[in-house]
Amino acid sequence: MASAAKTQKPTPHAVCVPFPAQGHINPMLKLAFLLHRKGFHITFVHTEYNHNRLLKTGGTAAVFPLPDFQFATIPDGLPPPENEDSTQDIRSLCLSTREHSLAPLNELIDRLNGGHPRSPPPVSCVIADMHMWFVLDAADRIRVPGVLLQTSCAGDFMCNKNIPRLVEKGFVPFKDESSFTNGHLDKPQIDWVPGIFPLRLKDFCNFVIQTTDPNDALLQFVIAGTSRSSTAAAIIINTFDALEQNVLSALSTMSPPIYTVGSLHLLHNQPSENMSDDATKSMRSSLWREDASVLKWLDSKPENSVIYVNFGSIAVLTQHQLIELAWGLAGSERNFVWIVRPDSVRGENAPLPEEFWAEIRGRGFVAGWCPQEEVLGHAAVGGFLTHCGWNSLLESVCGGVPVLCWPLFADQNVNCRYACEEWGIGVEVKGGDVKRDELGILVRELMDGERGEILRKRAAEWKEKAAAAVACGGSSCLNLDRLITEVLNA
Ligand code: UDX
Repeated sequence: MASAAKTQKPTPHAVCVPFPAQGHINPMLKLAFLLHRKGFHITFVHTEYNHNRLLKTGGTAAVFPLPDFQFATIPDGLPPPENEDSTQDIRSLCLSTREHSLAPLNELIDRLNGGHPRSPPPVSCVIADMHMWFVLDAADRIRVPGVLLQTSCAGDFMCNKNIPRLVEKGFVPFKDESSFTNGHLDKPQIDWVPGIFPLRLKDFCNFVIQTTDPNDALLQFVIAGTSRSSTAAAIIINTFDALEQNVLSALSTMSPPIYTVGSLHLLHNQPSENMSDDATKSMRSSLWREDASVLKWLDSKPENSVIYVNFGSIAVLTQHQLIELAWGLAGSERNFVWIVRPDSVRGENAPLPEEFWAEIRGRGFVAGWCPQEEVLGHAAVGGFLTHCGWNSLLESVCGGVPVLCWPLFADQNVNCRYACEEWGIGVEVKGGDVKRDELGILVRELMDGERGEILRKRAAEWKEKAAAAVACGGSSCLNLDRLITEVLNA
């Protein structure tokens, strides 16, 4: 008879490889913390560039001492940018990591599996960001499950899955560059994508489809990725079932098994009996230094009285948009928190005028980066002017905060449509040529108007559904357990 020691499974060891941008690192790190809580050994792989930034910003998530949780680095293949605090170009990152990151990752995995007395347990699964689909090769090479994490919504995944069909049907590449600006993007109504409302061309990722070149490298990267993702052992999505029922049901018949575990930040915040795990709740992975004094400032403001303004980690505004936004907020006569990253304005970044600072004294808080999850969970925050990055939108849903949507690129148009048309928690700002007066009116309407009241009520309902999904017995909580028993530690 086999002894108990012989039949005992080794500790599972997950290698987690996020796409190297803030909106992708955050959800992957939460997933890694959750798996660690469930007994996994974790190797979390940053790019060298981001690891160095995290060390500088005090991003404890790069250096904290947590047993069985280690960080490793791989190169991204890009030359160091001029400004070391800036977001790297997303297109270049996709293409460069594909070419330069896989071989060093394979070497890292070989070192982890080296079999030395102090080696961690053998790598038993690899979890990669959807944009890092080529990492599935590393999992195949050592014959362990390779799983993809879709950090944006299921709707965005469905859109990307259908890009090859846009090509087949002749929508992409575009005939000429005038199509980028002449209204063509607002049509046609693409009604054949399963489980989702009729789409405009601008609802698909602009980086990928807005090209006139059939051999465009990013277009080819995404087409190859949609095909490779269908061979993953599973796809994890940072959404929850109630939020995207139709598209999730359509996806269930056409992909590898899907596990919805969102919102990951809320799931990670659930009470836990493990002390070292609790410590992870305050661990940050911000690539910019956070100004936490915003929370104290919010403490001094009445409930639902502050509009929070943040465009995430990548978006860049023109100087004109910045000025209109500044005076729109000043003219709204409402309290606001506005996060202006050091690299958030295109070209020459002129300082905001003295009169602006005089006008907003006492009711405006401006900083370069903040602890957003806490801000959106603060009782004083009653509205969010957002670019509709998926993490921001999901964090807003979880905080019960209605949104003014100013989508700019990638998945943000489709996310905006979910917020405004499906969930009833948002109003769209026509951001391209936004005027300060219109903005001021929209802010006042959201914060005090009748329409704002309706949106706030709907947002409160979604907040409850989000909480139910991560509570014990909720869909995301159960799906995480199923993911582990059916795939990651089967
Ligand atoms: C990008 C894309 O823009 C987005 O559309 C896609 O879904 C993910 O990748 P980003 O633009 O950075 O992400 O936006 P978002 O998805 O909202 O992610 C930003 C993250 O940074 C959020 O988790 C947010 O909480 C955090 N953040 C942002 C802060 O902690 N502090 C800040 O001041 C700003």
